[in-house]
Amino acid sequence: MAAPNRFTVDLIAWQKTAGRHDLPWQKTRDPYRIWLSEIMLQQTQVGTVIPYYARFLGNFPDVQALAAAPIESVIEHWAGLGYYARARNLHRCARQIAEVYGGDFPQTEAELESLPGIGRSTAAAIAAFAFGRRAAILDGNVKRVLCRQFGIAGFPGATAVHRELWALAESLLPESNIEVYTQGLMDLGATLCTRSRPRCGDCPVASGCVARRDGRQGELPESKPRPAVPERTSTFVLLTDGARLLLERRPPSGLWGGLLVPPEGEPAEVAARLGLALGESMKLPPLKHAFTHFRLTLLPVLCRIEAGFQVAEPGLEWVALSKAADAGVPAPIKKLINQVASAGG
Ligand code: ADE
Repeated sequence: MAAPNRFTVDLIAWQKTAGRHDLPWQKTRDPYRIWLSEIMLQQTQVGTVIPYYARFLGNFPDVQALAAAPIESVIEHWAGLGYYARARNLHRCARQIAEVYGGDFPQTEAELESLPGIGRSTAAAIAAFAFGRRAAILDGNVKRVLCRQFGIAGFPGATAVHRELWALAESLLPESNIEVYTQGLMDLGATLCTRSRPRCGDCPVASGCVARRDGRQGELPESKPRPAVPERTSTFVLLTDGARLLLERRPPSGLWGGLLVPPEGEPAEVAARLGLALGESMKLPPLKHAFTHFRLTLLPVLCRIEAGFQVAEPGLEWVALSKAADAGVPAPIKKLINQVASAGG
């Protein structure tokens, strides 16, 4: 027998007085209605779900009706909720319940979890709400609540942290009032212990909250660790005749595909490739730019071109220095050009 703990006791008391009691799926113990609500709520917010839920039940009042309906009709009544795999699984699940269980929902978490579209947390929610079973839920909101309350470090998606959270969720379950407790966890995560700006002043379990004690609400739960991104360095030659800048159109695919960019490469290489003679050159300060998959340090070199250079290579364009920053160049190039333009070419 688990010892009663303060978190659970306080959460239950709070749910009874301050939690949500009027959601459409709270008025029933019909597993069909509870299952449907839990599937709709997996990736969609309560306010969006409510009207869909009512319409869906109007069309498919029980699991037999849903099982008998063609998939097209189910998808049609799901239209707008998104994540259509949910609708397909819902239909498959209804058929399985009709065929394998004679239309009666199984009651154990293990049997529920074996059905299409029902994961461990959804199985537990259905088992708790419909059958009063002592089963632990752990959805995204609950992970956030537990990480903050108990100061759980690490990314909740990491295997070890995930296991720790499930064990913790199981250890907190009350001996009675499982429905109130489960709803209380959901209510707390959805209304007070929100991702940004949690309302700790109104929280029933703030006094025991590690994140609140340490002022770490913004750091818990921890985000997914970013893999170290590769670093690249590349030289760009800003070729000018004093009034204009020579830009080169990038090939259609690859980095900055199709955009105008100063020629990339060491000045001597660029001069040889484009068949031009260089005058004075000056290194400009490096510029760092973060792409999704790597970081680039741009090493700009400003070079004078001898007057009279004729553009022969395809893809090369002279652009007035005063207009070059707005010629559809990538953001870091725009910064470089502005440096050059403000320095007077
Ligand atoms: N999110 C998931 N299940 C829910 C429920 N039963 N009530 C409110 N929000 C939820």
